Amino acid sequence: MDKLIIGLKRLEYRGYDSAGFAIDDYDYDSLDDCDDRKVEGEDDADADDEEKKNKKKKKKKKILVCREVGKIVNLEALAEKELFNDNNNNNNNNSIKPMNNCASIAHTRWATHGPPNKINTHPHTSDSIENEFVVVHNGIITNHAPLRAMLERRGMKFETETDTEVIPKLCKFLSDKFEESGEKDVSFRQLAMEVTRQLQGAYALVFKSTKYPGELVAAKRGSPLLMGISDDDSGEVSGVINRTNDDLENNINKKRKTTTITTNTKKITTTPKVEFYFASDASAMVEHTKRVLVLEDYDVCHCKNGGYKIYKVEKQKHAHPGYTSGHDSPEYGLYKPVVLSKEVERTIETLEMEVESIMKGEFDHFMQKEIFEQPEAIASTMRGRLVLDVVGAAERVVLGGMSQFADTIRRSRRIILCGCGTSYNSAVAIRQLFEELTDLPVTLELASDVLDRRCPFFRDDTCIFISQSGETADTLKALEYAKAKGALCVGIVNTVGSAISRATDCGVHINAGAEIGVASTKAYTCQIVAMVLVALSLSEDSRSKHTRRDDIMQGLLKLPSAMKECLKLDAKLIELAQELKDEHSLLIFGRGFNYATALEGALKVKEVALVHSEGILAGEMKHGPLALVDEHMPIIVVCTNDGCYEKQQSVVQQLKARDGRLILIVSEDDKEMEKTAPEAIILRVPKVVDCLQAVVNIVPLQLLSYHLTILRGHNCDQPRNLAKSVTVE
Ligand code: AGP
Repeated sequence: MDKLIIGLKRLEYRGYDSAGFAIDDYDYDSLDDCDDRKVEGEDDADADDEEKKNKKKKKKKKILVCREVGKIVNLEALAEKELFNDNNNNNNNNSIKPMNNCASIAHTRWATHGPPNKINTHPHTSDSIENEFVVVHNGIITNHAPLRAMLERRGMKFETETDTEVIPKLCKFLSDKFEESGEKDVSFRQLAMEVTRQLQGAYALVFKSTKYPGELVAAKRGSPLLMGISDDDSGEVSGVINRTNDDLENNINKKRKTTTITTNTKKITTTPKVEFYFASDASAMVEHTKRVLVLEDYDVCHCKNGGYKIYKVEKQKHAHPGYTSGHDSPEYGLYKPVVLSKEVERTIETLEMEVESIMKGEFDHFMQKEIFEQPEAIASTMRGRLVLDVVGAAERVVLGGMSQFADTIRRSRRIILCGCGTSYNSAVAIRQLFEELTDLPVTLELASDVLDRRCPFFRDDTCIFISQSGETADTLKALEYAKAKGALCVGIVNTVGSAISRATDCGVHINAGAEIGVASTKAYTCQIVAMVLVALSLSEDSRSKHTRRDDIMQGLLKLPSAMKECLKLDAKLIELAQELKDEHSLLIFGRGFNYATALEGALKVKEVALVHSEGILAGEMKHGPLALVDEHMPIIVVCTNDGCYEKQQSVVQQLKARDGRLILIVSEDDKEMEKTAPEAIILRVPKVVDCLQAVVNIVPLQLLSYHLTILRGHNCDQPRNLAKSVTVE
């Protein structure tokens, strides 16, 4: 159970509202098919006593399900109390005794169907008494309503408001129907395939059942799912893990060496451990293993007897006659499993993630850690890509993953930059440089708007999809749409192996490291840097842009130290946060390269500090927002020294004339703004090349939103109602 709880805690950063787990109701004294431990002298005695054995077998069949709303610590406390408290009547003989073969599942939920209460929390079950089939699900089942109606008509009772509950209910329904039809040998994998065949929408699922003790089946379509493999016997066990074993039934336990250990009271024979982990995110398993494989859509993985096999479901044209599809079709009496599949290999990869990257270290919060990590994160985005000459000056940009597509991109009709939230804001920040260096029209699309508008994408467009998680449903849908239109699809993604990074034709991993805080900080600045590299590599043949390109490349080299310098503003931002902590609204004005700074700064303030904030294009000020300005309204103006400086000076004058409470972000050597608005609070930031200034300028706004959040008593890492990866539309 500890591993489940720790795994859930590692996922908690994604901002969920309830959690639960299902474990075997294991009776230590009973014989157990799925436990290969033998306690000397006890098994024979038990074998003699048939009645006792049967009774115990009945007992071991149960699955315990525990659910709680709120944070994982609540679930942990409940589990301690209800499952492992010696003072209650609840199977307390089971308390924290090891099992050699067990299959357990857990889940944290972010409510989509039904409020976050105990009933709606996963795991969901086929029935709340026997828990015969138990399921955890990440994703969304879009046809849950007709499935539910069909199952209700067949007498099944639903207890939750979730879309997921149809899945265990379908398991039970189909399992019973197969039995009634004489199909007694349907495997757990086959049953899961028959169930998933009925589902529309997106899912990563793990199934557990008392009918198939010790087994797990995982299935994926549309939602991320990784499998981790950990073993302490790299020799024999890994042979099986690489599946030299032909038959799953010839399980590795038979091949593994055994060791006998003597405890104070008993002699216990053990075998080396092999553990399989399923999770939507590597951070849930990185403490246990770095050996992972990424499951693909329509993959079904079956773990049994210490081994595993992966099958790919084959697409079927028609349901087999004599088989009901699971929808209401009473004309068919017989139920037969019909889904065809073939066994497939998936490569085991080594995670580059370090355990430390998912720990807070010396920092109080992940958001704070990630803000302060930016100098290193940016250096890592550029590592190996910004090539230096012998004297250490930047010479050229090499983007291996994109080089063979560079000509196609240059020949495109236009470039479309597409993402959501912060990732979209990074597109706003880079648009101008893309236009300047590529001489192509560049348009921006909010991914969530692409399908609604059915955007006119064409086969000679290049669409660049930007995403930290690589799993954002809106972005993924927009990507599928662009692919269907024949556009070249490029990814700017942080998470290696994510759906977006696999579905794009080529791309750049931003290498920012794990971003745990729900508020995206280092991913934003690294996305901009990665796209600067893309723009540079697309313009490498342009003689007329040589000087400009060179300035930018040398500017990139200095960027990490400028970021470090900028982070020294922290103390000043604590003071400013003190001053602003009781405000209800904050306006941020930017333009040119820093319109994105205004948008992103405002997004940070609203999402974590829960203060209304608006990022406004300064040129739009007179067209409406000026009406909001009075002596009470705090206004941040980004007016660092670039081509828009004079216009921003005029904006400051106009805001001052309306008594606005001004906070100005200016370049370190600026002398003018202080004179323009002597009573304003001035934040001085290091000066870098204009197109990189947005990377530096966001730092004070990130720090401000962080400190505002802490002073206002909110949770910056898991802001109210938000999830880190928005895997539903
Ligand atoms: C940023 O702070 C937000 N949490 C959110 O806007 C996020 O950027 C957006 O959901 C897109 O996520 P992605 O980068 O993982 O695709």
